[in-house]
Amino acid sequence: MTKYYQPQTYQIITFGCQMNEYDSEVLAGVLDGMGFTQANGVDCADIVLLNTCCVRETAENKVFSLLGRLRRLKKEKPGMIIGVSGCMSQQEGMAARIRQGFPHVDLILGTGGACQLPDLIGRVIERRSPVLAVRPGIDGIVENLPVRRKEGIRAWVAIMYGCNNFCTYCIVPYVRGRERSRRPGDILEEIDRLGREGFKEVVLLGQNVNSYGKDLDDTIDFAGLLKKLDKYEGNNGVSRIRYMTSHPRDFSDRLIETIVASDKVCEHFHLPVQAGSNRVLKKMNRGYSREHYLELVGKIKSSIPTASITTDIMVGFPGEDEKDFEDTLDLARQARFDSAYTFIYNTRPGTPAASLEGQVPEEVKKARIQELIKLQNKISLERNREEEGREQEVLVEGESKTRPGMLAGKNRGNKTVIFPGGKELIGRTVRVLITESHLAHLAGRQLPH
Ligand code: SAH
Ligand code: SF4
Ligand code: F3S
Repeated sequence: MTKYYQPQTYQIITFGCQMNEYDSEVLAGVLDGMGFTQANGVDCADIVLLNTCCVRETAENKVFSLLGRLRRLKKEKPGMIIGVSGCMSQQEGMAARIRQGFPHVDLILGTGGACQLPDLIGRVIERRSPVLAVRPGIDGIVENLPVRRKEGIRAWVAIMYGCNNFCTYCIVPYVRGRERSRRPGDILEEIDRLGREGFKEVVLLGQNVNSYGKDLDDTIDFAGLLKKLDKYEGNNGVSRIRYMTSHPRDFSDRLIETIVASDKVCEHFHLPVQAGSNRVLKKMNRGYSREHYLELVGKIKSSIPTASITTDIMVGFPGEDEKDFEDTLDLARQARFDSAYTFIYNTRPGTPAASLEGQVPEEVKKARIQELIKLQNKISLERNREEEGREQEVLVEGESKTRPGMLAGKNRGNKTVIFPGGKELIGRTVRVLITESHLAHLAGRQLPH
């Protein structure tokens, strides 16, 4: 029988999106609360927890290969506890697959399962046998769990969990459950605490923040929440509010007006478009047309000429032909995104798109993404060129990792800006004149106040 000793240290490895990063911070907070301490790497940790993502197959493969490596490590250190948490474990049939293929995994935990961690780890130690807790925890919200945040100036704050949209390619609604919003009071309290702890920027997280509040009794929507946070006097230290992700279908005029009128909410709009062809958008169940999307972009640009607009675009959705792909390129040309995350469509078992006819060959998908990236890089560079000569507000995050002696921070549009300056400016907001532009960052010099 495997001999488990009392573990002392842990290491969490996170895959996937910011929501998963935030979940890992909660898992770490719970483990700290149990008296464990963070290890300096996987090799010396007594508990290793993989907080997984299944949005594309590549994310899953990374987890499988790490589990293979951990099998060898556990041979040398048999008392080690290995856990798998997050979206992957929540997938139909995945827990059984993990247990079969990786019998050295001691613990499988679903999304939103942090509150179960003490009980489950206790059971692994006492019963010395693997435990499984997958489905529980997918519908509720558990407040007041401890959070161990990464040091710095930016903090993630989940405002809602789950997704009701069921875009036909996407696994997220199946592994994260239905939309549920946190109460505004709980969010305010958390942000207030973050301000007092020294954080300067909060990023409000949700799969579709525009649906915020629909399930609450309070008559509050996302614009209402932003207004409340912007005017809140308690969180004095927090000077910037960002949010992600917003769905282009539900982005109301009222929300644009709220952002225009607010001081703290940054003028960065991440609006995943996914495709530029109406035929494809319909098959994706996105609920908007390219005309609606471009009109929204137009409204944002006319209300806030300096707004930065970013997106997610996918190529190779089943049935996408050359004309559909041309429509995507054309939309990118018209919207002139500041930057875009581009993805090759990947079949996710159990989603409606998996059984659609007309799956696009891999080499066609690869050629299309290359063409899209080439176009977007050109546009991103042009957009960054437009920033030259502008004075911008930069929140300084730290020393530049790539350019020694320089400081790095973000402008309100979420672009990295580097400039020469002393470490005493870290955490402060300064004015910078942009003098140089590159594909992934801007550079400049600090202006006097
Ligand atoms: N809730 C967010 C993000 C979802 S996942 C939103 O609605 O925008 C992040 C991105 O991954 C998506 O925007 C989409 O572009 C991409 N994605 C999701 N499922 C995918 C799949 N099956 N294949 C390829 N990319 C996918
Ligand atoms: Fe997935 Fe669509 Fe929900 Fe985003 S909105 S998480 S893409 S189902
Ligand atoms: Fe991945 Fe889950 Fe996020 S599937 S993208 S970690 S919500």
